[in-house]
Amino acid sequence: MVMETYFLLLTILQALVSLPVFLKPCKAASDTLTPTQSLTEGKTLVSSGKTFELGFFSPGKSNNRYIGIWYKRSPEVVVWVANRNNPLTDSYGASLSLNTNGNLVLLNRTSTIIWSSNTSIMVLHNPVAQLLDSGNFVVRDKNSSMNPEMFAWQSFDYPTDTLLEGQKFGWDLNKGLERYLTSWKSPDDPSTGDFTYRMNETGIPQFIISRGQTRVFRTGTWNGIRFSGFATLTDTIFRSIIVINDREKYFMFVPNTRSTTTRLTMNYSGLALPYMLKNNNTEWNVIYSDAYDLPCDGYEFCGANAICKTNTMTVCECLQGFTPKFQQEWEAQNWKNGCVRKIDLDCNSEEGFVQIEGVKLPDLLEFWLDKYMNIQECKKACLKNCSCTAYANSDVRGKGSGCLMWFGDLIDVRYFNVEGSEDTIHIRLAASEIKSIMGKNAKKNVRTILVAISAVCFFCLLLCCIIAKIRTGLSGTEKEDIELPLFHLATVASATNNFSPEYRIGAGGFGHVYKGKLSTGQEIAVKRLSNDSGQGLKEFKNEIELIAKLQHRNLVALLGCCIQGEEKMLIYEYMPNKSLDHFIFDNERRTILCWEKQFNIIMGIARGLLYLHRDSKLQIIHRDLKAGNVLLDHNFKPKISDFGLARIFKEDEKEARTKRIVGTYGYMSPEYAVDGKLSVKSDVFSFGVLLLEIVSGKKNSKFIHPDHHHRLLGHAWLLWNEERALDLVDESMNVLSSCIECQVLRCIQVGLLCVQKFAKDRPTMSSVIFMLENETAILPQPKQPGFFIERTSNDDGLASRNEECGSQNAVTITLLHGR
Ligand SMILES: *[C@@H]1O[C@H](CO)[C@@H](O)[C@H](O)[C@H]1NC(C)=O
Ligand SMILES: *[C@@H]1O[C@H](CO)[C@@H](O)[C@H](O)[C@H]1NC(C)=O
Ligand SMILES: *[C@@H]1O[C@H](CO)[C@@H](O)[C@H](O)[C@H]1NC(C)=O
Ligand SMILES: *[C@@H]1O[C@H](CO)[C@@H](O)[C@H](O)[C@H]1NC(C)=O
Ligand SMILES: *[C@@H]1O[C@H](CO)[C@@H](O)[C@H](O)[C@H]1NC(C)=O
Ligand SMILES: *[C@@H]1O[C@H](CO)[C@@H](O)[C@H](O)[C@H]1NC(C)=O
Ligand SMILES: *[C@@H]1O[C@H](CO)[C@@H](O)[C@H](O)[C@H]1NC(C)=O
Ligand SMILES: *[C@@H]1O[C@H](CO)[C@@H](O)[C@H](O)[C@H]1NC(C)=O
Ligand SMILES: *[C@@H]1O[C@H](CO)[C@@H](O)[C@H](O)[C@H]1NC(C)=O
Ligand SMILES: *[C@@H]1O[C@H](CO)[C@@H](O)[C@H](O)[C@H]1NC(C)=O
Repeated sequence: MVMETYFLLLTILQALVSLPVFLKPCKAASDTLTPTQSLTEGKTLVSSGKTFELGFFSPGKSNNRYIGIWYKRSPEVVVWVANRNNPLTDSYGASLSLNTNGNLVLLNRTSTIIWSSNTSIMVLHNPVAQLLDSGNFVVRDKNSSMNPEMFAWQSFDYPTDTLLEGQKFGWDLNKGLERYLTSWKSPDDPSTGDFTYRMNETGIPQFIISRGQTRVFRTGTWNGIRFSGFATLTDTIFRSIIVINDREKYFMFVPNTRSTTTRLTMNYSGLALPYMLKNNNTEWNVIYSDAYDLPCDGYEFCGANAICKTNTMTVCECLQGFTPKFQQEWEAQNWKNGCVRKIDLDCNSEEGFVQIEGVKLPDLLEFWLDKYMNIQECKKACLKNCSCTAYANSDVRGKGSGCLMWFGDLIDVRYFNVEGSEDTIHIRLAASEIKSIMGKNAKKNVRTILVAISAVCFFCLLLCCIIAKIRTGLSGTEKEDIELPLFHLATVASATNNFSPEYRIGAGGFGHVYKGKLSTGQEIAVKRLSNDSGQGLKEFKNEIELIAKLQHRNLVALLGCCIQGEEKMLIYEYMPNKSLDHFIFDNERRTILCWEKQFNIIMGIARGLLYLHRDSKLQIIHRDLKAGNVLLDHNFKPKISDFGLARIFKEDEKEARTKRIVGTYGYMSPEYAVDGKLSVKSDVFSFGVLLLEIVSGKKNSKFIHPDHHHRLLGHAWLLWNEERALDLVDESMNVLSSCIECQVLRCIQVGLLCVQKFAKDRPTMSSVIFMLENETAILPQPKQPGFFIERTSNDDGLASRNEECGSQNAVTITLLHGR
């Protein structure tokens, strides 16, 4: 960096020092060259508005001379070079002239052609070469109009590393002309460098930065509104224009204000950035310094078949149905080898699709395009072709149209969401995979919860700005009723060895839980409900279907149900790695969970809960969130279980109060435990308790401290007030880096906010996620938490009263224990 700055300074100094030597101002500088004149070293052309100047220059420390165009006001910025790969290296005396055919020719002193424009398209009667105020150097007939169609040659058709206002970038298909940017080699050397920025128009246009043959950045495909990973912005400073038709495919930008000058330049390290010069200034500023949304904008950052997310701890995730190619490498955050299918496709007719909304569509490496198919036809076509791995609409305008099919690996996918023009991809999965993620609803929306708001400004080529607001909860467009798979009692009975006690893995207020294995080998968890739900079969089924529609990566997937006679059972995916309580409250197992894993678990639970509260169409209050109801998959990704069960067990009064109190002591909010008042804020309370339990490794209800009689919440509150909150952290976490420390503190603060006594003082889950994720957000100070009462030896607080009263009381506490 220091070196670069040094070189930059040198460049500027050199340019300033060398200017007087080579660029002696001509008297009455003209903007035009005619066949009778020649431009010799030391002379320049100046455009009529004095914006641009053309002449000989030597870049940086180099002594080579080139013909170039620069800003009159800012001569160090050279925007075009004629003989970039063929410098004048020896004695002075070169000249640029226009011959009578309209050909521009650069000759050295001994009249060797160093560079020529090769103008040959038109016969010109009276050719002139003119430097226009746009920075375009054109050859035209003297009496022709200024219509670009009439230019016999123009420098705008041969950009070097800079795109100017109004200059087209892309393809002229009639002329077979591609205008693209190539970096300079170095500040001293304008010859073609390693990086190119081009529009690839194979199939659907996308812009690509490559280093040599290797892609390093890609905008995503043009979806009719924008590039699928990239939002065009119309700004106060400039406006982007994209034209895509049968004759031309190009981008350009035009200024919106006269008080600034803008350009897009690709520097030696391959970053194409927009720069702005204010009228009064001489200093160029990058318009969007955070232009690139790294790391996700890095091409194929996550490897094949994975999806990239910014603003989260885990940047890369395998696409649904895929698993890391090399698990250990992946866990070490080395993502380059990407993911492979869990179950290979075998072209079985039961294969189906999962849908991911709000993505940058994969690169078009092996693909097939039909602009006229609709999405249903596209799906059929993909299913028919055994090598098809995914499909999507090629154009998202209106209700979407066109069919893009991919073959082989899906490369360079990221979450990218811009309201109104999201791209949705449908990924083909094996039949059993589809079943296990509630198959049959491939069209159903995989709702994404990304509360992270990433404002990413990008200009890149497009002088566009990405403002990727990854919205919370996408609502679907396609509605398809899912049929919930019904399992036969016999199937379930045989899977669980006739509900034999050895297969029992847990019990809860709603019934027993069994582990089972279907004949296909798939492992399942069977929740056999006790029969006091008070619901008719029809309502039960309706309810289950609603719950089955809830799909989120942080919710345990419901695979189906079994209803037969009095028997009502729910069949879930089986989670091998037990529940969270198994880990956090066990001194030994706890050590497996480093802080990063813990934080991921906290965020995952928060996202799952937010989905239940806000993003599912149902608004579900879980009512029994606790460590035992958070299951962990093999990657320790948390999945909330037992959500929606409360719905099945009918309540007397739906929203405000409920007589039957379902919940677990230690996690219940005061208003719920005491008055049966239920709201999403009761779940927030439970979440707060859980969060503090995760951080401390202590169970709230079992917490005992030698110095006082408070539970965990009270203890946390006391420490917080003494500004010793970090003491809450379990000793096994020992050395915390300062970066982790503030994240832990933030978690504790959020935890305390969630367990405030009054529901109105607790944040919603969306604020919780925002507060946890955004390291700069300012959090409110917590007040005293709920249940801040010391226990006495014989009165074990409110809970034990209730516990003892049990079912005799109008208030029933259902004590649920971990499975
Ligand atoms: C002109 O260019 C030719 C070819 O590169 C070279 O041989 C010759 O020496 C140059 N003449 C002068 C005076 O630089
Ligand atoms: C002009 O034509 C010559 C000979 O075909 C070629 O070497 C040269 O690169 C061309 N110049 C440009 C600017 O395309
Ligand atoms: C330009 O002038 C020539 C005569 O010098 C004339 O023949 C031609 O039509 C003119 N072209 C235009 C476009 O006016
Ligand atoms: C290219 O631009 C980026 C962004 O301004 C900068 O970080 C990088 O150092 C530049 N590279 C060079 C070689 O100037
Ligand atoms: C230039 O700057 C001066 C003061 O800094 C300001 O008064 C003037 O309006 C500016 N001119 C333009 C063209 O922006
Ligand atoms: C465009 O991309 C395709 C594959 O993605 C590649 O085969 C082709 O060469 C590219 N075209 C250009 C002009 O880079
Ligand atoms: C699948 O589609 C590709 C591209 O259109 C084609 O080359 C291939 O032959 C098709 N395969 C089958 C089995 O239809
Ligand atoms: C619950 O099931 C038992 C048998 O398992 C049965 O005796 C009882 O009547 C059922 N209760 C209700 C309310 O259906
Ligand atoms: C459960 O977690 C452990 C780490 O403690 C891991 O080694 C194991 O593979 C996981 N078990 C399963 C069945 O995924
Ligand atoms: C983080 O919070 C601050 C202050 O509330 C806000 O200005 C900023 O935009 C937030 N950042 C993100 C990425 O949401």
